[in-house]
Amino acid sequence: MRTHDVVVVGAGLAGMRAAIAAHEAGVDVALVTKVHPVRSHSGAAQGGINAALGNETEDNPDNHTFDTVKGADYIGDQDAIETLCHRAPEEIYKLEHWGAVFSRQEGTGKIAQRPFGGAGFPRTCYAADLTGLVILHTLYTVCVKYDIPTYEEWFVTELVTDSSGNCTGVVAYDMIHGTIETIGAKSVVLATGGAGRVYRPSTNAHASTGDGMSLALRAGVPLKDMEFMQFHPTTLKSNGVLVTEGARGEGGYLLNKDGERFMSKYAPNKLELASRDVVSRAEATEINEGRGVDGCVLIDLRHLGRDRIMERLPQIRELAIAFAGVDPIDEPIPIRPGAHYHMGGVHVDSWGAAPHMPGLFAAGECACVSVHGANRLGGNSLLEAVVFGARTGEAAARHVQEAYNGKGPEVPGDAAAQFEAKLRALLERDKGPRQAEIRDELADTMQEKVGVFRTGAQLEEARQTVHALREKFKGVVVDDKGQTFNQDLITTLETGYLLDLAECMVTGAVARTESRGAHSRLDFPERDDETWMKHTLSYLEDDEIRLDYSEVTVTKFQPQVRSY
Ligand code: FUM
Repeated sequence: MRTHDVVVVGAGLAGMRAAIAAHEAGVDVALVTKVHPVRSHSGAAQGGINAALGNETEDNPDNHTFDTVKGADYIGDQDAIETLCHRAPEEIYKLEHWGAVFSRQEGTGKIAQRPFGGAGFPRTCYAADLTGLVILHTLYTVCVKYDIPTYEEWFVTELVTDSSGNCTGVVAYDMIHGTIETIGAKSVVLATGGAGRVYRPSTNAHASTGDGMSLALRAGVPLKDMEFMQFHPTTLKSNGVLVTEGARGEGGYLLNKDGERFMSKYAPNKLELASRDVVSRAEATEINEGRGVDGCVLIDLRHLGRDRIMERLPQIRELAIAFAGVDPIDEPIPIRPGAHYHMGGVHVDSWGAAPHMPGLFAAGECACVSVHGANRLGGNSLLEAVVFGARTGEAAARHVQEAYNGKGPEVPGDAAAQFEAKLRALLERDKGPRQAEIRDELADTMQEKVGVFRTGAQLEEARQTVHALREKFKGVVVDDKGQTFNQDLITTLETGYLLDLAECMVTGAVARTESRGAHSRLDFPERDDETWMKHTLSYLEDDEIRLDYSEVTVTKFQPQVRSY
């Protein structure tokens, strides 16, 4: 059996940063990833990464902390947010020294920073509008330099535990050869990204199916704050592709059908640079009240001029031409809110450790530390991935040394065989629904009933539909019975993950009878700190979702009225 000290599942920013940290701590670490590392969804992040570098402004990590706490609508854990914001400059300079080509300020040559939503200072470091891609490639070169073993196109199907409930490895399916193996480990780090594909359209890659979250849930580990799904204010109508917040950061306006810069009604101080939940609700209101343009509003960049668009937003121009048929140098781009980022995830502490399962860790969008609370600020996701990726890798390496002291993990020998039997039963079935029809209904239901605005009645309908789809999925048929690159099989397994997560999302959303951040209930329009200043924990028990709650850590900032 293959074994490593640390196995990291997922090779986006958080996964590779965790692997690098574990390697530097002196343990044997491997990456297991269902896509090649540089195809990970982190590469789709465009606008930037936040850090209070204080270049030519008086910004500092305490300002960044306050903006993040406020952006989170006061339900983020403030000790973890302090950690995020205070470690940010160190991580940015580390990335720069590893070779990340950030855009520079004219004159000083220092790292340039652009304004982003909900931030009191221009704090978002960027590489034009390709920031995630640049950092992804940078981390990949470090992993190659360190010769970190990488199981590419291996799909993880189960977590493995020993007789005391410690996580001691994973079962994984080698997608090229169709074989199933157990990979033993003393620490397992889940870094599989978000579950944006629960929705349609979505800014997320097709691979963003929440695999790590579902693996943890099925193994008895709770997920936290799953009801909070972020809708990004600017996504293309045709396919949900992201138009970066950097477009507004550079000075882009939002317009309705009358040419009105409508954000002045909703966020008179910050306008287009209010936090994302506020801007998405404003757009949805304009569209719902008949002031949209064919179900969209417009983002206008024309006044920025060709040179600035070509220098700072070249990818946005290409995407708008390719998918919306407009050149933003000459015409506004039709956009609308779209599913983008999941604030919820595997319940972990600020070292990425899952308190319910020794040896299990999680980082990045897959985890809920929680630093984003009910609404993440743009530019804090890449930051979370590198800061908590690094801390989680360090903690996973420490666990190897402290819990094992040179001994090997106890890895049950039959884990792969048990999964193989389940897989055989699935592949032998030839009558039943196909995953595509289940996934279509799931995505349509979530898009229609669990969106920017929500009501108890619609959420309850969605909960029942998702529950019924989970039941239907038990009889799903995979048409492709082959062993090499069986995408039908992989997509089916991913659909099972999405269904688990959707049920957690809607169950948490039905229960939370208030409006906070991205969870906006028309039937409970106010934030209710008295009752709901708490995290939601979702457990999977007897195939049903059970909710529990845990405390929010408040250090310096008591909840205040939130306006922009
Ligand atoms: O708008 C963007 O460029 C996305 C950034 C983010 O989600 O942090």
